[in-house]
Amino acid sequence: MKSILVTGGAGYIGSHTAKLLHKQGYQPVVFDNLSMGHEWAVKWGPLIEGDLNNREQIGKALEDYQIDAVIHFAASAYVGESVENPRKYFRNNVANSINLLEAMDDAGVRKIVFSSTCALYGNPEKLPLDETHREDPINPYGDTKLFVERMLKWYGEANGLDWTALRYFNASGADPDGEIGEDHDPETHLIPLVIYAATGKLKQLKVFGTDYDTPDGTAIRDYIHVNDLAEAHLAALNKLGNGTDSNIYNLGTGKGHSVMEVIRSVEKITGLKVPFEETSRRAGDPPELVADSGLAQSELGWIPNFQKLDDIVKTAWHWHQKHHGS
Ligand SMILES: NC(=O)c1ccc[n+]([C@@H]2O[C@H](COP(=O)([O-])OP(=O)(O)OC[C@H]3O[C@@H](n4cnc5c(N)ncnc54)[C@H](O)[C@@H]3O)[C@@H](O)[C@H]2O)c1
Repeated sequence: MKSILVTGGAGYIGSHTAKLLHKQGYQPVVFDNLSMGHEWAVKWGPLIEGDLNNREQIGKALEDYQIDAVIHFAASAYVGESVENPRKYFRNNVANSINLLEAMDDAGVRKIVFSSTCALYGNPEKLPLDETHREDPINPYGDTKLFVERMLKWYGEANGLDWTALRYFNASGADPDGEIGEDHDPETHLIPLVIYAATGKLKQLKVFGTDYDTPDGTAIRDYIHVNDLAEAHLAALNKLGNGTDSNIYNLGTGKGHSVMEVIRSVEKITGLKVPFEETSRRAGDPPELVADSGLAQSELGWIPNFQKLDDIVKTAWHWHQKHHGS
């Protein structure tokens, strides 16, 4: 059984990927400092409570578990916070990724799948966004991810590192079995926030911007189910070393949904009313972000199973009811 080091595997997307790794016959070895993740989310392999700021600790994990490949989720991932505190983001996302790459290099581990983001495109010049779109991040978070992609490229050329960067659009939904799901603190993602507003956990949802040039005036995003993201990681992992043409893939459904559509979907699925207030646009929020994932489809053979927003919301609601009990 091959062992895969899953940095950030106690977090949202990492835990869903660990579950799928286990199902497909890998041993997921989670490396997480639990700053954002949860011990309860690590169920399919060992948990190393470690921090990527400690290169020796990473090296020990790679040796102890005879790691074959790394899936690197661990990062700080709040766009707004990155603007206020770039130091934290360059330290955790860039400097700590340098530690990981150096430890891998020293241990002779030469395969990595990296969590990247559509945030590195900045304001879209054309939609849907494909991988040839100009990279022009408008916040430090996006820049940190681009830096890591650049490091991977140069490590690949010099050291034969086999790498894939997956640029996710909006991760959403939860494990359909209800075993794990999204639980960020603070929560900034739209679907859980809309559910919190529906159930009264949040008094009122803030809708940022109702005057965009979109059909209902609210911002449009591409919501990709977390299990589909997990599937893409497995597809990328299985292709490492088999020589695909590209290293970078967008992951989205190719369909955009507005904030109002998400509210209506949550109202339909839960049968509850969502109280919301309209507020002004947030700086740096593009009106619309939708992925062209044709490359992932043709080269990785990846097709998202969750194509309908309602089906995604159903899994998030199912998880919410099990986890929060309302
Ligand atoms: N959620 C999204 O919509 C989205 C979109 C694009 C990209 N991403 C990227 O995907 C990855 C996972 O996102 P998520 O939503 O699951 O986030 P998350 O916060 O739920 O998971 C990140 C995990 O990394 C851990 N971690 C952070 N710094 C660490 C460190 N120094 N050492 C060890 N562990 C550390 C945290 O404890 C947490 O468990 C991130 O890299 C994020 O930037 C997420």
